[in-house]
Amino acid sequence: MGIVLFGGTVVNYDSVKSQDVRIDGQIIDRIGPGLEVSGDEVIDVSGCYLFPGGIDPHTHFDLNMGNTMTADDFATGSRAALMGGTTTVIDYATQSRGQSLSDALAIWHGKAAGKSFIDYGFHMAMCDCRDEVLAELAMLAIHHGVSSVKLYMAYKDVMQVDDASLLKVMRVCRSAGLRVCLHCENGDIISEMVKSAKAAGKFSPEQHAATRPEAVEAEAVYRAICLTEIFGCSLYIVHVSTERAVNLIREAQRRGLPVTAETCPQYLLLDESYYEKADFEAAKYVMSPPLRNRNNQAALWQGLADSTISCVGSDHCSFNWIGQKELGRDDFSLIPNGAPGVENRFGLMYTFGVEAGRLSLQQFAQVTSTNAAKLFGLYPRKGALMVGSDADIVIWDPTRHSVIRAENQTQNVDYNTYEGFAQTGAVRHVFLRGKRMVKDGVSHVAALGEYLPRNPMPIGEGN
Ligand code: URP
Ligand code: ZN
Repeated sequence: MGIVLFGGTVVNYDSVKSQDVRIDGQIIDRIGPGLEVSGDEVIDVSGCYLFPGGIDPHTHFDLNMGNTMTADDFATGSRAALMGGTTTVIDYATQSRGQSLSDALAIWHGKAAGKSFIDYGFHMAMCDCRDEVLAELAMLAIHHGVSSVKLYMAYKDVMQVDDASLLKVMRVCRSAGLRVCLHCENGDIISEMVKSAKAAGKFSPEQHAATRPEAVEAEAVYRAICLTEIFGCSLYIVHVSTERAVNLIREAQRRGLPVTAETCPQYLLLDESYYEKADFEAAKYVMSPPLRNRNNQAALWQGLADSTISCVGSDHCSFNWIGQKELGRDDFSLIPNGAPGVENRFGLMYTFGVEAGRLSLQQFAQVTSTNAAKLFGLYPRKGALMVGSDADIVIWDPTRHSVIRAENQTQNVDYNTYEGFAQTGAVRHVFLRGKRMVKDGVSHVAALGEYLPRNPMPIGEGN
């Protein structure tokens, strides 16, 4: 017995069509008119869009940030993602110094297995680039299904790697078919600026932004592009926040370099004025890169619309304001960096992308799902509503209106980054591999998420 989704509008990265969809088991069996087979359950989805399940390529669940753990683990974070229309996350399995990559990966499998409500893959986030660790890289894709590696040019003395290490990793990744995800901020400059601010007696949260100016991102993006030009690996620049970075990336792409990019709703929708909030509320928005001058936002939207930027990730890295962000009440440099957003990414992009006329429905599908699947080795299993693809389907009711409130959220954190934002449209049902995980906006079932081994990506492909 199958399930027929009847009367909706099917949105893919390249088409919008009034079509029915039949699910058989875990996959999409047929698309078109008159699909019902005797015994099928027929669900009327008239007036709704059917979107490919959202893919969030940038989350940090159950991450130790040195002085505290993220508020969301795989259970709470994945459930929040699901409620918001995301059916796959690619989380950053993060190595500690001195640790092997296989040990770090085994720990991340332990954090997610049996707990995740949605399917998940891992990028490997590296900070220790010893020769023994580099030797493990090629095995990641072949034996473990991890086809992307993240490095940080920021977070000095913690996660930051120097250029020599970056080059070594790029060289291996090029031959092994791994994509390099890069956090582009110059950590040495930031470290010096933080020291100067503190020496001048400046300790409040707005100093977080003051010590990470736009040039810090622009310099790192330019350096990363130059390194890619020399070593030729596929580069994916995470959480791009400035117009300058978008322009550098566009120019690199025009020159044919294998450079792709991601931005996040916070850089598209919030701005540096949030750091003026009194009574330590500004700490809720301490993230890296920081929120920017509003003038950058048009360029980020344009980057999405013209495909300079491929993906929207949430960079979900949640900390409670009470008790966690408060660790930095007397010193901004101790505020844990990051903000929640996995639950709201999909709805915000629909509201401020599609409804606001900045993105077409197809572009919405591309930036919230398809492009991440293509770049990270999940396509066409994920990221498309096609015969044979996993039946990961979001039934989206565009007539609903709501206001984002922390008190209504599933994320396990005491605030919402987008508190008070009006949202157009809402999740009605969500299917994960054919199972209705959300029914009429309510989640019913257990943690059925599975690990997704991902394919390596030959250089030049999917860029
Ligand atoms: O502030 C952020 N973005 N925290 C998460 C870690 C990272 O830099 O991506
Ligand atoms: Zn991140």
